[in-house]
Amino acid sequence: MVAVLSPNAIPSHTPVLTEEVISFLAVQPGRRYVDCTIGPGGHSRAILDASAPGGVLLGLDADPAAIELASEALSDFAGSIRLVNGNFRDLRDVCNRYEFEPVHGVLFDLGVSSLQLGSADRGFSFQTEAPLDMRFGPDQALTAAEIVNEYSDTDLSNVIWQYGEERASRRIARRIVAARPISTTTELARIVAKAIPGGRKRIHPATRTFQALRIAVNDELTAIAEALDQARDVLGSGGRMVVISFHSLEDRIVKQFMQRESRDCICPPEIPVCSCDHKATLKVLTKRPVKPGDAEVSTNPRSRSARLRAAERLPVEVD
Ligand SMILES: C[S@@+](CC[C@H](N)C(=O)[O-])C[C@H]1O[C@@H](n2cnc3c(N)ncnc32)[C@H](O)[C@@H]1O
Repeated sequence: MVAVLSPNAIPSHTPVLTEEVISFLAVQPGRRYVDCTIGPGGHSRAILDASAPGGVLLGLDADPAAIELASEALSDFAGSIRLVNGNFRDLRDVCNRYEFEPVHGVLFDLGVSSLQLGSADRGFSFQTEAPLDMRFGPDQALTAAEIVNEYSDTDLSNVIWQYGEERASRRIARRIVAARPISTTTELARIVAKAIPGGRKRIHPATRTFQALRIAVNDELTAIAEALDQARDVLGSGGRMVVISFHSLEDRIVKQFMQRESRDCICPPEIPVCSCDHKATLKVLTKRPVKPGDAEVSTNPRSRSARLRAAERLPVEVD
């Protein structure tokens, strides 16, 4: 079941790097934008403000509760937005279906919103007692409970290592298997904390394990890899894509994608003569990822791990 998010009950979500998003998207009046992760609509509002008059926006989110919130929050722009509950891994089909292309800008602000984290029965946070769910949408089959209670010791350890980059993954997996069945987030957080020796106090000991479970439940890294190609495809010549990631696994995918798509040849270095026929499709606009400044981090601590990368679509060849 997906919780209905009541705006009164949960902390609000402050969008990160908003000025940078607007600047790298080069938002202009009358243009067409896609927000692939609309959440409660913070970035979308800024895009709609900057693209008025005449700007239009298609907002996508895998979470139906986020779509409901965005619809309320952006009701003053109702005539300029189209909201779609869906996964951004289907971006090309969605743009096609709504005849929304070519577009001038595509934004991804990855991960979860503060509203999802604070929502009492979604299971995203180890700080809130909730069933082990972590799905973005109610139609997804896999839940965190299934991974935690049914995966083999080895598979569980692999998930925690691969998606959480957690050095203690084996020990954590063993403890989890020994403690089964585990039904809530706080119960899991206690078990994980006991598996990690003291001293590593910079982040809560369960942070990496929870990140790993969420990524696995929502198949997040595959979705990003699939969506980036599609974002490039729906952009018209000179259109911009902006991606904000919150951990190194996401950022690596974005960085490698932009590096590859900005090169005319992607043959391995040992091949003397190019045989790949690859043509650059993007110009990278951010040599290094853009990070929030101290002022933003102090007012919005969630922004501290944000990394923004941007690229511009090179002229699209028409056959
Ligand atoms: C950090 S929030 C976005 C907040 C938004 N930019 C704002 O300013 O209010 C990320 C959102 O992306 C959604 N999301 C994550 N992965 C997704 C995917 N593969 N497809 C569609 N939406 C996704 C989440 O449900 C969440 O609502």
